[in-house]
Amino acid sequence: MTSSVRKPFKIVGAGVSLPDKVLTNADLEKMVNTSDEWIVERTGIRERRIVESDVATSDLAAGALAQACGDAGLSVRDLDTIIVATSTPDTVFPSTACWTQRKLGIKGAAAFDVSAGCTGWMYALELGVALLMAGTSRRVGVCGAEVMSRVIDWTDRSTCVLFGDGAGATIIEKGDGSTGILASNWGADGNLAPILYQPAGGTQKPATAETVAAREHAVYMEGNAVFRHAVRAMSRAASLALDDAGLGPDAVDLLIPHQANIRIMEATRQRCGVSSDRLFGIVDRYGNMSAASVPVALHHARRDGRLADGSALAVTAFGTGLTWAGSVIRM
Ligand SMILES: CC(C)(COP(=O)(O)OP(=O)(O)OC[C@H]1O[C@@H](n2cnc3c(N)ncnc32)[C@H](O)[C@@H]1OP(=O)(O)O)[C@@H](O)C(=O)NCCC(=O)NCCS
Repeated sequence: MTSSVRKPFKIVGAGVSLPDKVLTNADLEKMVNTSDEWIVERTGIRERRIVESDVATSDLAAGALAQACGDAGLSVRDLDTIIVATSTPDTVFPSTACWTQRKLGIKGAAAFDVSAGCTGWMYALELGVALLMAGTSRRVGVCGAEVMSRVIDWTDRSTCVLFGDGAGATIIEKGDGSTGILASNWGADGNLAPILYQPAGGTQKPATAETVAAREHAVYMEGNAVFRHAVRAMSRAASLALDDAGLGPDAVDLLIPHQANIRIMEATRQRCGVSSDRLFGIVDRYGNMSAASVPVALHHARRDGRLADGSALAVTAFGTGLTWAGSVIRM
C-alpha cells in the first residue's frame, strides 16, 4: 500500500432495509405522461421501491441498523452512537435517530440526525469517524434513510420518476489503523439552496391549507442546474480526495458515486479518469434514495464481492444545499 490511513476506522457490518413494493417505469406510465424509454435514457432508472402507508423513515433506519449489527455479529445494544442522515425525517423534532432508537427497543446511545441531503451519509460518516478518533464513541451506527415517496408530487413527471425509498447502515469502529479514510473533503454552497428544496413545512413557510393545495410540501427542483452542479461537485470532490491520498485513478478498485442518475454517475467517472468496469451502480433497481443511496450501494458492493480487504474505495456525493463530499477509503 502506497498511502497511509489518516482517519482510522473499520466497517465491521453493513445492512439495508428496502421496501418490498416495486414501482416500475411501466407503472409510472399509467400515472403521468412519461415512458420507460424516456426514463431509462435520461436517468438509467428502471424501477424503485416504495413503502406502504404505515411505514416511516425510522422503520427503515431501524431495519437497516439491525441488519448491519447482525452482519457485524453484534446486538443493536452494542451501539453507543446512532447517526441517521435524512431529508425526510419522521417529525421535525425529535430526530429520526431517536424514533429509530425507540423502534429498536434500546436506550442510552447518543442519537441525532444529519441533514445534508443526498450527501448525508458521507457527512455522517465523517462525523462518526471524528467521534471515534476523539474517543467520544467506540461503535457508531451510521445510517442513511429516506421515504422520498412522501415528499414527491406524484403528478410532476419531471421529479416523480427519479426517487425511491430505502435505508442503508454501516457500523464503524476504530479498528487497528490499517483501514480507514486515506483522504476526504466536504463542502457546501448555501447560495444554491433554492434550486433543490422543499418549499413549505418549515419556519420559512409553515404548513397551511394553501401550501398543501399548491403542492409546496413536495420536492422543487431545477433539474438542469442540479445536473450541472452535481457533475462538477462530485468529480471535483473525488479527484481532490484521490490527489490528497496520493493515488491515481488506476489505483481505485471501486468508485461509488451518489446514485442520482446514470448520466451524472458516468460523467463523474469520466472526469475522475476511473475505468468503466470500476463504476458501481444500483440506480437502475432503486432510483435515487437520497442519503440512503451510497450506503445501500456499499452494502451491495460488499455482498457482491466487489470490495475486498485492502481495496481502495472512492466515494463521492452531492445533494440539496448544495452539499458535496469525496473520500478515499482503504477497506
Ligand atoms: C431531471 C432530469 C432527468 C431531466 O433530464 P433532462 O435531459 O435535463 O431533460 P429536460 O429537463 O431538459 O427536459 C427535456 C424534456 O423532457 C420532458 N420531461 C421531463 N420529465 C419527463 C418524463 N418523466 N417523461 C417524459 N418527458 C419528460 C420535459 O418536459 C422536456 O420537454 P420539453 O423539451 O418539451 O420542454 C435531469 O435534469 C437530471 O437528472 N437532473 C438532476 C436531478 C437530480 O439528480 N436530482 C437529485 C439531486 S440529489
